[in-house]
Amino acid sequence: MQSMASDLPLFPQSASTVSPQVDALFFAWSAVSIFFSLLIAVLIIYLMAKYRRRSPDEVGLPERAPFWLEVAWSLIPLAIMLVMFVWGTRVFINIYRPPADAVQYYSIGRQWMWKFQHPTGQREINTLHIPVGQPIKLLLQSEDVIHSFYVPAFRVKQDAVPGRYTSVWFEATKPGVYHLFCAEYCGGEHSKMIGSVVAMEPRQYEEWLSGGPAGRSVVASGAELFQQLACQTCHRTGTGTPGLARAPNLEGVFGNQVRLQDGSTVVADENYLRESILNPMAKVTAGWQPIMPTYQGQVTEEQLTQLISYIRSLGESSTPEVNVRP
Ligand code: CUA
Repeated sequence: MQSMASDLPLFPQSASTVSPQVDALFFAWSAVSIFFSLLIAVLIIYLMAKYRRRSPDEVGLPERAPFWLEVAWSLIPLAIMLVMFVWGTRVFINIYRPPADAVQYYSIGRQWMWKFQHPTGQREINTLHIPVGQPIKLLLQSEDVIHSFYVPAFRVKQDAVPGRYTSVWFEATKPGVYHLFCAEYCGGEHSKMIGSVVAMEPRQYEEWLSGGPAGRSVVASGAELFQQLACQTCHRTGTGTPGLARAPNLEGVFGNQVRLQDGSTVVADENYLRESILNPMAKVTAGWQPIMPTYQGQVTEEQLTQLISYIRSLGESSTPEVNVRP
């Protein structure tokens, strides 16, 4: 089915680990739809002919469907729908939950371009080079309006929404140059907001990386910014800057539950950290004074990501409760 499909010029290439799963679901769903559409169309025509009125004064007799037939036409579609539901849900979860070994890349959408940054610091615009066989998680942001990152050959599409983080992951299975589209109408030049994802053999990718200026890694930029903004005067990070412990230790916070003042808990993911930097009063950690100033307007979208990546690099501890005051 796979090779047949890729021979059709209107069907996108299949070049990621989730592509075959999406295609199988698509073809199965299409087959079921076509089968029932034809069945119903044929039955309508056949029954129209068979039960047509034969004389002008003929009156139809009311007829009740037998019980077994009513049960059958309720249960069979239900069973088919449940299969589709479970199957579709499994594929959906595979597409939207990145594997644990996914490497994080960064993307910012804006009118009208895609900006990318590699974990090692290299930057690109409208083109993203990636290694084949490596799961890649792309952290998406928008500087202005809603955009949508869409690579048909990978069968993934995810909105980039201003004011919050979203992410998408993919693992390319063969080298090639694949179309990248913005799939959300975002203004006058939306249709020009296109680019490509270049999947390369890992060794070639390494060569490509070393061919350009590396710049600083996202985490290193975040660490420097953390110092510049003097975050460490309140937040101990365990890296030689004890601070005054007026705020939670950020080491091992990322990915864990944080207990808040009102007794509820929240997972310290990218969006929670983002909110805590821009609007510190929104969700204050239990046991700490709400004294942190806002950094709204003082950090750019890109700097926010650097800070969050740095905090993430401080360790994703496996202990469930980390923000307990020492
Ligand atoms: Cu960005 Cu359409």
